Amino acid sequence: MSEHFSHDVLIIGSGAAGLGTLLRLHPRLRVAVIAKGPLDEGCSKYAQGGIAAVLDPADSIESHVQDTLNAGAGLCDPEVVRFTVERGAGQIHWLRELGTTFTTTNSHLHLTREGGHSQRRIAHADDATGQAMMQAMVNATQQRDNTELFEKHIAVDLITANKLGHEPQQVLGAYALNRHTGHIEVFHARCVVLATGGASKVYLYTTNPDVSTGDGIAMAWRAGCRVANMEFTQFHPTCLYHPQAKSFLLTEALRGEGAHLLLPDGSRFMQRFDERGELAPRDIVARAMDHEMKRLGADCLYLDISFKPAAFIKEHFPTLYRRCQEFGFDMTKEPLPVVPAAHYSCGGVITDLHGHTDIDGLYAVGEVAFTGLHGANRLASNSLLECLVFGEAAAQDINQLIKHRPLTEHIPDWDESRVTDSDEEVVVSHNWDELRRFMWDYVGIVRSDKRLQRALRRTDLLVREIEEYYSHFRISGDLIELRNLVQAATLIIRSAMMRQESRGLHYTLDYPHRDDSRAPQNTVLTPPNFNTHSRAARSRTQRMAKA
Ligand code: FAD
Ligand code: SIN
Repeated sequence: MSEHFSHDVLIIGSGAAGLGTLLRLHPRLRVAVIAKGPLDEGCSKYAQGGIAAVLDPADSIESHVQDTLNAGAGLCDPEVVRFTVERGAGQIHWLRELGTTFTTTNSHLHLTREGGHSQRRIAHADDATGQAMMQAMVNATQQRDNTELFEKHIAVDLITANKLGHEPQQVLGAYALNRHTGHIEVFHARCVVLATGGASKVYLYTTNPDVSTGDGIAMAWRAGCRVANMEFTQFHPTCLYHPQAKSFLLTEALRGEGAHLLLPDGSRFMQRFDERGELAPRDIVARAMDHEMKRLGADCLYLDISFKPAAFIKEHFPTLYRRCQEFGFDMTKEPLPVVPAAHYSCGGVITDLHGHTDIDGLYAVGEVAFTGLHGANRLASNSLLECLVFGEAAAQDINQLIKHRPLTEHIPDWDESRVTDSDEEVVVSHNWDELRRFMWDYVGIVRSDKRLQRALRRTDLLVREIEEYYSHFRISGDLIELRNLVQAATLIIRSAMMRQESRGLHYTLDYPHRDDSRAPQNTVLTPPNFNTHSRAARSRTQRMAKA
């Protein structure tokens, strides 16, 4: 028999999006938060550069809106961009009240600059903004009454009315694997918030920690939600190249403070690709690096800030300085070896301005969601901002509507009667490695029709193999993640095949130019079990049509 829990709201994920939503919910609501590992483990904790917001009197909402639209290459939803940017300063104020210590000079916030921004507008806590922010959010979470925290729990699938054969379609809760006991538990809830982050782990090289396996996107898709713009994976240009420095990012703020990108012979090259040089948006910088590495047969390129005074470097980038020293590099004296790596999923589960998805009662917030903010390329430091703005918007919606939402008592236990323990765990780890490698080789920074077709043939095979494995053997954390990774990979490949042009983060050799002959389109994928009659789906369809 499975253990059952009942709450008003179930939040899956405890990064900036999950806790940002939780902390704005009415304190009387009974909430469960589940997370794969410890509460603070996720991309949010590793954020370095900071949070973009209009905080300087010389800056303006118009300017931040315009920079976001420019980076998004014609695909941002202008209404969503304005909605988000207008709420930026309020989010920084909220974080400070919560106890986040931002870097200041003469008691004013110190603002840094990153690629694509025409102003200094990134509020930061030295070079470890995520750590400072998450510490404050976790502290506040632990002080909340009526909130139960379930660490080391992996959500397996959403439970919906349609799945149980009922109408109208709505979310009822989720099944989750308790990693302590190895058993599946049943979470009943009136509303569910997916805050599970992105899917960058589908790639061999990534800046992301292990949690980013696209679980929320895959669960929402299987439940019947549409997803959009999955082809737009952002590759961050500067991940430290060192065998032990698994996924260690070198913040873009280094380039904001003047760092140069160098070829192995020590010469600069970015000016040849874009007049903004090292501060061009990430898609342009990552593609230029990929081009130069392939042209020269180089394993890596270099990032150099050593010409700045050592005291300046140590003061502004204390975490990076310390970590690089651990890997044997002194960034005050030498250039650092770097490569681009998968960093951010711009696409995701389609939501409205309240974070609401196609299924009644189901919300998606943060990197898991497609709100329309990022278009074809996310502007640096707009992600944490989106997590907080949409966390607040979703919480306000839930606070208002929760009284109209039923709590379903009769949800069946998870059926394990027909499965046995696996005798071939190697299948999972082998498939995991294979997937991440071919996604890197065929669906990476530069794509082509042939490479995408090759990748799709392989995911089709993997899907069949994994489904067979899934229905015969007791599920494990690795199997859940692999199943979701393959689902996310398939959605990325199918979306990339549909976009027959190069735009923003999607570059293909077969269509190397942007197609401006017609209005730019989002790539929307619709699952076979999409319920066109659901109230939520109808309102989302109207919005997409309007956009
Ligand atoms: P995450 O913070 O990744 O949290 C995901 C949560 O979901 C975790 O708690 C995880 O355990 C949980 N979860 C996932 N799947 C399941 C499941 N099946 N069951 C239960 N729980 C699950 N953005 C900026 O704006 N500024 C920056 O300076 C910046 N720097 C970055 C630096 C690095 C190294 C990285 C990797 C990203 C950076 N980004 C930055 C991007 C930004 O950090 C992320 O987009 C953002 O933190 C995502 O927050 P999130 O809450 O959506 O997801
Ligand atoms: C960085 O610090 O370079 C990451 C910023 C971001 O991803 O927005």
